[in-house]
Amino acid sequence: MPSELLALARTIAVEAGELAARRRREGVEVAATKSTIVDVVTEADREVERLIRGRILDARPNDAILGEEGGSSSGTSGLTWVVDPIDGTVNYLYGIPHYAVSIAVVEADVEGEPDPLTWTGLHGCVLNPAVGELFSGSRGEGAFLSVAGGPDVPIHAAAPAPLELALINTGFAYAAATRAKQGEVAARLLPMVRDIRRFGTASLDLCMVANGRTNAYFERTLSPWDHAAGAIIAREAGAVVKGFGDAAPSRDFILAAEPELAARLEPLLIDLGTRFEL
Ligand code: IPD
Repeated sequence: MPSELLALARTIAVEAGELAARRRREGVEVAATKSTIVDVVTEADREVERLIRGRILDARPNDAILGEEGGSSSGTSGLTWVVDPIDGTVNYLYGIPHYAVSIAVVEADVEGEPDPLTWTGLHGCVLNPAVGELFSGSRGEGAFLSVAGGPDVPIHAAAPAPLELALINTGFAYAAATRAKQGEVAARLLPMVRDIRRFGTASLDLCMVANGRTNAYFERTLSPWDHAAGAIIAREAGAVVKGFGDAAPSRDFILAAEPELAARLEPLLIDLGTRFEL
């Protein structure tokens, strides 16, 4: 039985996912651009986030919320809901059935915006409405996948794999100069591993590591809502989810993999130049 908070997150994600899928069927257009001309938001992103915020506030008026489109609102409980209404917006825009509603509950300071470097992730759920896959997990309680409303089945990260047999997913920033450097790292890594994937939805990238569909995932420049829920799920599935060195995952870096591969991959990625100045 999921905890009360996780159950609430899942219920809200399912309702939000239905709305996102309905809007997708009706047709989606760019409403505005954000950090660069390729960083887009659709009216559906905004509408879905409004729905999620409303449902959270109805049930949990003292909790804080940090959302991709609506920013942060403070609370008094020490709990913050970290929300990406539609992660993978570019996939969503193009009709690629690989986008997600991502909702996490984290414990953080009551003052200021919650910081992934210091927060403690408690509950997370990531729903891909286009295929009906709902990933979820709570700290210390394991990670699960439910397909099309079916039973929760425990999921686990892949068994240790040698680097040359590792399938690795990654992602790229919206800023062209950052991408150019990320592309160089990917080009150097490619001959050393089984292959590289770029799926376009960070929360689902983490869930792919969680259920062993890929061996490892890394990225730089993620926002807190991109990784909050997926990181909890991947950890509960037995993966290490970390930043550089002893740091927690953040905009600076995220690496998720089964522990032996993570220990090999981090120094290699640094050697290949991934730790460039952002
Ligand atoms: C993006 C996706 C993508 C990742 C980007 C994110 P958005 O989130 O998660 O996979 O590479 O860094 O910004 O903009 O679709 O919510």
